[in-house]
Amino acid sequence: MSADYPQVLLKYRQPDRITTLEEYRQHGGYTALASVIQNGDPAPVKAVLADATLLGRGGAGFPAGVKLKTVADDAPHPRYVVCNADEMEPGTFKDRVFLHAEPHMLIEGMTLAAFSIRASHGIIFIRPEYESAARILEREIGLAREAGLVGENILGSDYGFNIVVHRSGGRYICGEVTAQLNALMGRRPNPKQPPPYATDKGLWAKPTLINNVETLACIPHIVNHGAQWFKDLALTPEAAGTKLFCVSGKVNRPGVYELPLGVKLSTIIEDCCGGMKNGARFKACLPGGASTGFMTAEHYDIAMDFDSLKKVGNRLGTGAIMVFDHHTCMVAATLNLTEFFARESCGWCTPCREGFPYLRDLLGRIENGQGEADMIPQIKTICRHLWKTYCAFAPGGVGPIESLLAHFEDEIMQHIEEKKCPFA
Ligand SMILES: Cc1cc2nc3c(=O)[nH]c(=O)nc-3n(C[C@H](O)[C@H](O)[C@H](O)COP(=O)(O)O)c2cc1C
Ligand code: SF4
Repeated sequence: MSADYPQVLLKYRQPDRITTLEEYRQHGGYTALASVIQNGDPAPVKAVLADATLLGRGGAGFPAGVKLKTVADDAPHPRYVVCNADEMEPGTFKDRVFLHAEPHMLIEGMTLAAFSIRASHGIIFIRPEYESAARILEREIGLAREAGLVGENILGSDYGFNIVVHRSGGRYICGEVTAQLNALMGRRPNPKQPPPYATDKGLWAKPTLINNVETLACIPHIVNHGAQWFKDLALTPEAAGTKLFCVSGKVNRPGVYELPLGVKLSTIIEDCCGGMKNGARFKACLPGGASTGFMTAEHYDIAMDFDSLKKVGNRLGTGAIMVFDHHTCMVAATLNLTEFFARESCGWCTPCREGFPYLRDLLGRIENGQGEADMIPQIKTICRHLWKTYCAFAPGGVGPIESLLAHFEDEIMQHIEEKKCPFA
Protein backbone atom coordinates (compact mmCIF):
# COMPACT_ATOMS: atom_id res chain seq x y z
CA MET A 1 0.00 0.00 0.00
CA SER A 2 1.14 3.58 -0.56
CA ALA A 3 0.73 4.26 3.19
CA ASP A 4 3.72 1.90 3.73
CA TYR A 5 5.92 4.56 2.11
CA PRO A 6 6.60 8.13 3.33
CA GLN A 7 3.74 10.40 2.35
CA VAL A 8 4.64 14.00 1.56
CA LEU A 9 2.08 15.61 -0.73
CA LEU A 10 -0.91 13.52 0.34
CA LYS A 11 0.04 12.86 3.97
CA TYR A 12 -2.98 14.71 5.39
CA ARG A 13 -5.37 14.00 2.54
CA GLN A 14 -9.00 13.81 3.62
CA PRO A 15 -11.31 11.52 1.64
CA ASP A 16 -13.97 14.14 0.96
CA ARG A 17 -12.64 17.66 1.52
CA ILE A 18 -9.60 19.88 1.37
CA THR A 19 -7.15 20.50 4.18
CA THR A 20 -8.23 23.92 5.45
CA LEU A 21 -5.82 26.82 5.87
CA GLU A 22 -5.91 26.36 9.65
CA GLU A 23 -5.18 22.62 9.39
CA TYR A 24 -2.45 23.19 6.82
CA ARG A 25 -0.72 25.61 9.19
CA GLN A 26 -1.10 23.16 12.09
CA HIS A 27 0.76 20.57 9.96
CA GLY A 28 3.64 23.00 9.42
CA GLY A 29 2.26 24.69 6.32
CA TYR A 30 3.59 28.16 5.41
CA THR A 31 6.62 27.76 7.72
CA ALA A 32 8.90 27.43 4.68
CA LEU A 33 7.49 30.68 3.31
CA ALA A 34 7.84 32.42 6.67
CA SER A 35 11.49 31.43 7.05
CA VAL A 36 12.37 32.43 3.50
CA ILE A 37 10.58 35.79 3.78
CA GLN A 38 12.27 36.45 7.11
CA ASN A 39 15.67 35.63 5.64
CA GLY A 40 14.87 37.87 2.66
CA ASP A 41 17.40 36.22 0.31
CA PRO A 42 16.09 34.25 -2.71
CA ALA A 43 19.46 32.59 -3.37
CA PRO A 44 19.13 29.72 -0.83
CA VAL A 45 15.74 28.72 -2.29
CA LYS A 46 17.25 28.48 -5.76
CA ALA A 47 20.23 26.54 -4.39
CA VAL A 48 18.23 23.97 -2.45
CA LEU A 49 15.91 23.34 -5.39
CA ALA A 50 18.87 22.80 -7.71
CA ASP A 51 20.53 20.42 -5.20
CA ALA A 52 17.30 18.48 -4.72
CA THR A 53 17.26 17.52 -8.44
CA LEU A 54 13.50 17.89 -8.52
CA LEU A 55 12.40 16.93 -12.05
CA GLY A 56 9.25 18.54 -13.46
CA ARG A 57 6.17 16.42 -12.86
CA GLY A 58 4.17 17.76 -15.83
CA GLY A 59 5.51 15.22 -18.32
CA ALA A 60 8.86 16.39 -19.64
CA GLY A 61 10.90 15.82 -16.46
CA PHE A 62 12.97 18.99 -16.85
CA PRO A 63 15.01 19.93 -13.72
CA ALA A 64 13.03 22.56 -11.81
CA GLY A 65 16.14 24.10 -10.21
CA VAL A 66 17.80 24.61 -13.59
CA LYS A 67 14.70 26.32 -14.94
CA LEU A 68 14.56 28.69 -11.95
CA LYS A 69 18.18 29.64 -12.41
CA THR A 70 17.62 30.68 -16.01
CA VAL A 71 15.73 33.75 -14.79
CA ALA A 72 18.57 36.26 -14.77
CA ASP A 73 19.02 38.38 -11.64
CA ASP A 74 18.84 41.55 -13.72
CA ALA A 75 15.85 40.39 -15.83
CA PRO A 76 13.12 42.99 -16.29
CA HIS A 77 9.95 43.24 -14.20
CA PRO A 78 7.15 42.31 -13.85
CA ARG A 79 7.99 38.62 -13.68
CA TYR A 80 5.38 35.85 -13.74
CA VAL A 81 4.88 32.38 -12.31
CA VAL A 82 2.36 30.18 -14.11
CA CYS A 83 1.08 26.98 -12.57
CA ASN A 84 0.15 24.48 -15.27
CA ALA A 85 -3.04 22.77 -14.05
CA ASP A 86 -4.31 21.99 -17.55
CA GLU A 87 -4.03 18.22 -17.13
CA MET A 88 -5.61 17.10 -20.40
CA GLU A 89 -3.18 14.21 -20.95
CA PRO A 90 -5.45 11.15 -21.23
CA GLY A 91 -5.28 8.98 -18.12
CA THR A 92 -3.88 11.77 -15.95
CA PHE A 93 -5.87 12.92 -12.93
CA LYS A 94 -3.24 13.39 -10.20
CA ASP A 95 -3.40 17.20 -10.20
CA ARG A 96 -7.20 17.12 -9.87
CA VAL A 97 -6.99 14.84 -6.83
CA PHE A 98 -4.19 16.94 -5.34
CA LEU A 99 -6.03 20.25 -5.83
CA HIS A 100 -9.09 18.84 -4.06
CA ALA A 101 -6.83 17.85 -1.15
CA GLU A 102 -4.08 20.44 -0.59
CA PRO A 103 -4.70 23.80 -2.29
CA HIS A 104 -2.51 25.66 0.22
CA MET A 105 0.50 23.48 -0.53
CA LEU A 106 0.28 24.68 -4.12
CA ILE A 107 -0.25 28.31 -3.08
CA GLU A 108 2.79 28.13 -0.79
CA GLY A 109 4.91 26.37 -3.43
CA MET A 110 3.99 28.94 -6.07
CA THR A 111 4.76 31.81 -3.70
CA LEU A 112 8.16 30.31 -2.83
CA ALA A 113 9.01 29.84 -6.51
CA ALA A 114 7.87 33.41 -7.15
CA PHE A 115 9.96 34.78 -4.27
CA SER A 116 13.05 33.00 -5.58
CA ILE A 117 12.80 34.91 -8.87
CA ARG A 118 11.14 38.02 -7.38
CA ALA A 119 7.98 37.50 -9.45
CA SER A 120 4.96 39.61 -8.63
CA HIS A 121 2.17 37.91 -10.63
CA GLY A 122 0.96 34.33 -10.44
CA ILE A 123 -1.53 32.60 -12.71
CA ILE A 124 -3.02 29.14 -12.25
CA PHE A 125 -3.96 27.90 -15.73
CA ILE A 126 -6.65 25.29 -15.21
CA ARG A 127 -8.77 23.22 -17.58
CA PRO A 128 -12.45 24.23 -17.66
CA GLU A 129 -13.68 20.81 -16.51
CA TYR A 130 -11.91 21.46 -13.19
CA GLU A 131 -14.39 24.16 -12.21
CA SER A 132 -14.75 22.88 -8.64
CA ALA A 133 -10.96 22.94 -8.17
CA ALA A 134 -10.86 26.46 -9.70
CA ARG A 135 -13.46 27.65 -7.18
CA ILE A 136 -11.61 26.01 -4.29
CA LEU A 137 -8.41 27.74 -5.38
CA GLU A 138 -10.09 31.15 -5.71
CA ARG A 139 -11.63 30.82 -2.26
CA GLU A 140 -8.42 29.59 -0.59
CA ILE A 141 -6.24 32.22 -2.31
CA GLY A 142 -8.66 34.78 -0.80
CA LEU A 143 -8.19 33.26 2.66
CA ALA A 144 -4.41 33.18 2.24
CA ARG A 145 -4.53 36.85 1.18
CA GLU A 146 -6.55 37.77 4.29
CA ALA A 147 -3.92 35.97 6.39
CA GLY A 148 -1.11 37.96 4.73
CA LEU A 149 0.35 34.89 3.01
CA VAL A 150 -0.14 36.13 -0.56
CA GLY A 151 -0.89 39.59 -1.97
CA GLU A 152 0.89 42.77 -1.03
CA ASN A 153 3.46 42.86 1.80
CA ILE A 154 3.55 39.12 2.45
CA LEU A 155 3.99 38.45 6.20
CA GLY A 156 4.77 42.14 6.74
CA SER A 157 7.67 42.20 4.26
CA ASP A 158 8.11 44.46 1.25
CA TYR A 159 7.51 41.49 -1.06
CA GLY A 160 4.18 41.09 -2.86
CA PHE A 161 2.82 38.28 -5.05
CA ASN A 162 -0.75 38.02 -6.36
CA ILE A 163 -2.30 34.86 -7.75
CA VAL A 164 -5.29 34.61 -10.11
CA VAL A 165 -7.02 31.55 -11.57
CA HIS A 166 -7.42 31.39 -15.36
CA ARG A 167 -9.79 28.84 -16.96
CA SER A 168 -8.46 27.36 -20.21
CA GLY A 169 -10.48 27.43 -23.43
CA GLY A 170 -10.23 23.63 -23.21
CA ARG A 171 -7.81 22.21 -25.79
CA TYR A 172 -5.04 19.72 -25.04
CA ILE A 173 -2.40 21.86 -26.77
CA CYS A 174 -2.99 24.63 -24.21
CA GLY A 175 -1.02 22.46 -21.75
CA GLU A 176 2.15 22.90 -23.82
CA VAL A 177 4.19 25.75 -22.37
CA THR A 178 4.46 28.06 -25.37
CA ALA A 179 0.87 27.46 -26.46
CA GLN A 180 -0.22 28.21 -22.91
CA LEU A 181 1.57 31.54 -22.98
CA ASN A 182 -0.17 32.43 -26.24
CA ALA A 183 -3.53 31.41 -24.74
CA LEU A 184 -2.93 33.57 -21.67
CA MET A 185 -2.11 36.56 -23.87
CA GLY A 186 -5.37 36.09 -25.77
CA ARG A 187 -3.68 34.74 -28.89
CA ARG A 188 -4.34 31.58 -30.86
CA PRO A 189 -2.70 28.81 -28.78
CA ASN A 190 -0.14 27.59 -31.29
CA PRO A 191 3.16 26.40 -29.89
CA LYS A 192 6.18 28.57 -30.57
CA GLN A 193 9.70 27.27 -30.87
CA PRO A 194 12.25 28.71 -28.45
CA PRO A 195 14.46 30.70 -28.21
CA PRO A 196 13.54 32.92 -26.54
CA TYR A 197 12.64 30.68 -23.62
CA ALA A 198 9.73 31.64 -21.38
CA THR A 199 12.06 32.32 -18.45
CA ASP A 200 13.72 34.96 -20.64
CA LYS A 201 10.76 36.36 -22.63
CA GLY A 202 7.46 34.78 -21.68
CA LEU A 203 4.18 36.54 -20.95
CA TRP A 204 4.20 39.98 -22.59
CA ALA A 205 7.94 39.39 -23.23
CA LYS A 206 8.70 39.29 -19.50
CA PRO A 207 10.39 36.43 -17.58
CA THR A 208 7.86 33.68 -16.91
CA LEU A 209 8.34 30.48 -14.95
CA ILE A 210 5.89 27.67 -15.79
CA ASN A 211 5.67 24.58 -13.64
CA ASN A 212 3.25 21.77 -13.07
CA VAL A 213 1.02 21.63 -9.94
CA GLU A 214 2.88 18.68 -8.43
CA THR A 215 6.31 20.22 -9.09
CA LEU A 216 5.36 23.42 -7.28
CA ALA A 217 3.78 21.48 -4.40
CA CYS A 218 7.12 19.78 -3.67
CA ILE A 219 8.88 23.12 -3.04
CA PRO A 220 7.75 23.88 0.56
CA HIS A 221 8.91 20.40 1.66
CA ILE A 222 12.31 20.74 0.00
CA VAL A 223 12.81 24.18 1.59
CA ASN A 224 11.81 22.81 5.01
CA HIS A 225 13.71 19.51 4.97
CA GLY A 226 16.57 20.03 2.53
CA ALA A 227 17.83 18.53 -0.71
CA GLN A 228 19.27 15.31 0.74
CA TRP A 229 16.01 14.45 2.52
CA PHE A 230 14.19 14.83 -0.81
CA LYS A 231 16.69 12.64 -2.65
CA ASP A 232 16.49 9.98 0.05
CA LEU A 233 12.75 9.63 -0.47
CA ALA A 234 13.36 7.85 -3.81
CA LEU A 235 14.22 4.15 -4.03
CA THR A 236 16.73 4.47 -6.86
CA PRO A 237 19.94 6.51 -6.58
CA GLU A 238 19.33 8.65 -9.70
CA ALA A 239 15.80 9.65 -8.64
CA ALA A 240 14.55 12.14 -6.05
CA GLY A 241 11.26 12.54 -4.23
CA THR A 242 7.89 10.88 -4.31
CA LYS A 243 5.53 10.83 -7.28
CA LEU A 244 1.78 10.94 -7.60
CA PHE A 245 1.03 7.91 -9.76
CA CYS A 246 -2.50 7.77 -11.14
CA VAL A 247 -3.52 4.31 -12.19
CA SER A 248 -6.48 3.44 -14.41
CA GLY A 249 -7.60 0.49 -16.50
CA LYS A 250 -7.91 -3.17 -15.64
CA VAL A 251 -6.86 -3.13 -11.99
CA ASN A 252 -8.98 -3.71 -8.90
CA ARG A 253 -8.30 -0.37 -7.22
CA PRO A 254 -7.58 2.43 -9.69
CA GLY A 255 -6.64 5.75 -8.11
CA VAL A 256 -3.90 8.18 -7.18
CA TYR A 257 -1.05 6.79 -5.07
CA GLU A 258 1.87 8.75 -3.67
CA LEU A 259 4.90 6.48 -3.91
CA PRO A 260 8.66 6.92 -3.93
CA LEU A 261 10.17 7.34 -7.38
CA GLY A 262 11.83 4.06 -8.28
CA VAL A 263 9.02 1.88 -6.90
CA LYS A 264 8.46 -1.20 -9.06
CA LEU A 265 5.57 -1.23 -11.53
CA SER A 266 4.56 -4.66 -10.16
CA THR A 267 4.37 -3.20 -6.63
CA ILE A 268 2.05 -0.45 -7.81
CA ILE A 269 -0.25 -2.87 -9.62
CA GLU A 270 -0.28 -5.63 -7.03
CA ASP A 271 0.16 -3.94 -3.64
CA CYS A 272 -1.53 -0.59 -4.23
CA CYS A 273 -4.10 -1.44 -6.88
CA GLY A 274 -5.01 -4.91 -5.59
CA GLY A 275 -3.83 -6.71 -8.74
CA MET A 276 -5.47 -7.23 -12.10
CA LYS A 277 -9.24 -7.12 -12.35
CA ASN A 278 -11.10 -10.46 -12.47
CA GLY A 279 -7.82 -12.36 -12.27
CA ALA A 280 -6.89 -11.33 -15.82
CA ARG A 281 -3.28 -11.35 -17.03
CA PHE A 282 -1.25 -8.14 -17.39
CA LYS A 283 -0.70 -7.52 -21.09
CA ALA A 284 0.74 -4.02 -21.27
CA CYS A 285 0.56 -0.55 -19.80
CA LEU A 286 1.22 3.02 -20.78
CA PRO A 287 3.54 4.18 -17.98
CA GLY A 288 2.98 7.93 -18.17
CA GLY A 289 -0.12 8.92 -20.10
CA ALA A 290 -1.16 8.74 -23.75
CA SER A 291 2.10 10.33 -24.93
CA THR A 292 4.25 7.39 -23.84
CA GLY A 293 4.75 3.94 -25.34
CA PHE A 294 3.22 0.59 -24.42
CA MET A 295 5.32 -1.40 -21.99
CA THR A 296 4.83 -5.17 -21.94
CA ALA A 297 5.18 -7.84 -19.24
CA GLU A 298 8.93 -7.90 -20.00
CA HIS A 299 9.16 -4.73 -17.87
CA TYR A 300 6.62 -5.65 -15.20
CA ASP A 301 9.26 -5.20 -12.49
CA ILE A 302 10.79 -2.00 -13.83
CA ALA A 303 11.67 0.79 -11.38
CA MET A 304 9.26 3.64 -12.07
CA ASP A 305 11.53 6.66 -12.33
CA PHE A 306 12.60 9.01 -15.13
CA ASP A 307 15.98 7.35 -15.81
CA SER A 308 14.88 3.73 -15.69
CA LEU A 309 12.11 4.34 -18.21
CA LYS A 310 14.43 6.29 -20.47
CA LYS A 311 16.86 3.38 -20.47
CA VAL A 312 14.18 1.11 -21.98
CA GLY A 313 13.23 3.72 -24.58
CA ASN A 314 10.10 4.91 -22.78
CA ARG A 315 9.13 7.88 -20.57
CA LEU A 316 7.70 8.37 -17.09
CA GLY A 317 5.59 11.24 -18.48
CA THR A 318 2.95 12.29 -15.98
CA GLY A 319 3.05 9.01 -14.04
CA ALA A 320 -0.41 8.09 -15.38
CA ILE A 321 -0.32 4.30 -15.65
CA MET A 322 -3.01 2.84 -17.91
CA VAL A 323 -3.19 -0.91 -17.51
CA PHE A 324 -4.41 -3.31 -20.23
CA ASP A 325 -5.22 -6.99 -19.67
CA HIS A 326 -5.00 -9.99 -22.02
CA HIS A 327 -8.60 -9.43 -23.20
CA THR A 328 -7.72 -5.98 -24.56
CA CYS A 329 -7.33 -5.41 -28.29
CA MET A 330 -4.20 -3.28 -28.56
CA VAL A 331 -5.20 -2.05 -32.04
CA ALA A 332 -8.49 -0.74 -30.62
CA ALA A 333 -6.71 0.84 -27.65
CA THR A 334 -4.25 2.60 -29.98
CA LEU A 335 -7.06 3.68 -32.30
CA ASN A 336 -8.82 5.28 -29.35
CA LEU A 337 -5.72 7.29 -28.43
CA THR A 338 -5.02 8.23 -32.05
CA GLU A 339 -8.57 9.61 -32.35
CA PHE A 340 -7.68 11.91 -29.47
CA PHE A 341 -4.48 13.13 -31.14
CA ALA A 342 -6.23 13.60 -34.50
CA ARG A 343 -8.86 15.75 -32.78
CA GLU A 344 -6.47 17.76 -30.63
CA SER A 345 -3.77 18.61 -33.20
CA CYS A 346 -3.59 22.40 -33.32
CA GLY A 347 -3.16 22.20 -37.09
CA TRP A 348 -0.09 24.42 -37.27
CA CYS A 349 2.23 21.99 -39.05
CA THR A 350 1.34 19.65 -41.90
CA PRO A 351 2.73 16.27 -40.72
CA CYS A 352 0.74 16.47 -37.50
CA ARG A 353 -2.43 18.02 -38.93
CA GLU A 354 -2.64 15.49 -41.78
CA GLY A 355 -0.74 12.58 -40.23
CA PHE A 356 -2.92 11.79 -37.24
CA PRO A 357 -6.23 11.65 -39.19
CA TYR A 358 -4.49 9.40 -41.75
CA LEU A 359 -3.18 7.12 -38.99
CA ARG A 360 -6.59 7.09 -37.34
CA ASP A 361 -8.18 5.98 -40.63
CA LEU A 362 -5.59 3.25 -41.24
CA LEU A 363 -5.90 1.89 -37.71
CA GLY A 364 -9.70 2.13 -37.95
CA ARG A 365 -9.72 0.07 -41.13
CA ILE A 366 -7.45 -2.58 -39.62
CA GLU A 367 -9.64 -2.75 -36.50
CA ASN A 368 -12.78 -3.07 -38.62
CA GLY A 369 -11.46 -5.97 -40.73
CA GLN A 370 -10.60 -3.89 -43.83
CA GLY A 371 -6.84 -3.86 -43.28
CA GLU A 372 -4.19 -4.72 -45.88
CA ALA A 373 -0.62 -5.83 -45.16
CA ASP A 374 0.83 -2.77 -46.95
CA MET A 375 -0.79 -0.52 -44.35
CA ILE A 376 1.91 -1.44 -41.83
CA PRO A 377 4.76 0.18 -43.80
CA GLN A 378 2.47 3.16 -44.48
CA ILE A 379 1.90 3.61 -40.74
CA LYS A 380 5.65 3.38 -40.13
CA THR A 381 6.40 6.04 -42.75
CA ILE A 382 3.83 8.48 -41.36
CA CYS A 383 5.16 7.94 -37.83
CA ARG A 384 8.66 8.84 -39.01
CA HIS A 385 7.35 12.16 -40.38
CA LEU A 386 5.63 12.89 -37.08
CA TRP A 387 9.03 13.18 -35.43
CA LYS A 388 9.71 16.21 -37.64
CA THR A 389 6.98 18.44 -36.32
CA TYR A 390 6.91 21.81 -34.63
CA CYS A 391 6.23 20.75 -31.02
CA ALA A 392 6.31 17.69 -28.75
CA PHE A 393 2.61 16.90 -29.28
CA ALA A 394 3.21 14.74 -32.36
CA PRO A 395 6.20 12.69 -31.10
CA GLY A 396 4.11 12.08 -27.97
CA GLY A 397 1.13 10.91 -30.01
CA VAL A 398 3.18 8.43 -32.04
CA GLY A 399 4.43 6.80 -28.82
CA PRO A 400 1.53 4.33 -28.57
CA ILE A 401 1.50 3.66 -32.35
CA GLU A 402 5.21 2.92 -32.68
CA SER A 403 5.14 0.71 -29.60
CA LEU A 404 2.08 -1.10 -30.99
CA LEU A 405 4.17 -1.89 -34.07
CA ALA A 406 7.17 -2.88 -31.96
CA HIS A 407 5.35 -5.20 -29.55
CA PHE A 408 2.07 -6.20 -31.20
CA GLU A 409 2.70 -6.47 -34.94
CA ASP A 410 1.45 -10.07 -34.80
CA GLU A 411 -1.84 -8.80 -33.37
CA ILE A 412 -2.16 -6.29 -36.24
CA MET A 413 -1.46 -9.10 -38.75
CA GLN A 414 -4.10 -11.27 -37.08
CA HIS A 415 -6.69 -8.51 -37.70
CA ILE A 416 -5.61 -8.28 -41.33
CA GLU A 417 -5.54 -12.02 -41.99
CA GLU A 418 -8.80 -12.84 -40.18
CA LYS A 419 -10.48 -9.71 -41.60
CA LYS A 420 -11.93 -8.93 -38.17
CA CYS A 421 -10.92 -7.97 -34.69
CA PRO A 422 -9.94 -11.21 -32.89
CA PHE A 423 -11.06 -9.68 -29.59
CA ALA A 424 -14.51 -8.55 -30.75
C1 LIG B 1 0.74 18.71 -25.92
C2 LIG B 1 1.28 18.95 -24.55
C3 LIG B 1 0.43 19.05 -23.47
C4 LIG B 1 0.94 19.29 -22.19
N1 LIG B 1 0.06 19.38 -21.14
C5 LIG B 1 0.55 19.64 -19.90
C6 LIG B 1 -0.34 19.79 -18.79
O1 LIG B 1 -1.56 19.68 -18.92
N2 LIG B 1 0.21 20.02 -17.57
C7 LIG B 1 1.57 20.16 -17.39
O2 LIG B 1 2.02 20.43 -16.29
N3 LIG B 1 2.42 20.01 -18.43
C8 LIG B 1 1.93 19.77 -19.66
N4 LIG B 1 2.80 19.66 -20.71
C9 LIG B 1 4.24 19.83 -20.44
C10 LIG B 1 4.55 21.31 -20.46
O3 LIG B 1 4.85 21.71 -21.78
C11 LIG B 1 5.73 21.65 -19.55
O4 LIG B 1 6.79 20.78 -19.80
C12 LIG B 1 5.39 21.60 -18.08
O5 LIG B 1 4.19 22.29 -17.77
C13 LIG B 1 6.52 22.23 -17.29
O6 LIG B 1 6.33 22.03 -15.90
P1 LIG B 1 7.24 21.03 -15.08
O7 LIG B 1 8.67 21.29 -15.50
O8 LIG B 1 6.96 21.38 -13.68
O9 LIG B 1 6.81 19.64 -15.44
C14 LIG B 1 2.33 19.41 -21.99
C15 LIG B 1 3.20 19.28 -23.09
C16 LIG B 1 2.68 19.04 -24.35
C17 LIG B 1 3.64 18.89 -25.50
S1 SF4 C 1 3.04 19.16 -33.78
FE1 SF4 C 1 0.79 19.27 -33.92
S2 SF4 C 1 0.18 20.32 -32.05
FE2 SF4 C 1 2.40 20.76 -32.35
S3 SF4 C 1 2.47 22.64 -33.56
FE3 SF4 C 1 2.45 20.99 -35.03
S4 SF4 C 1 0.24 20.77 -35.55
FE4 SF4 C 1 0.36 21.91 -33.63
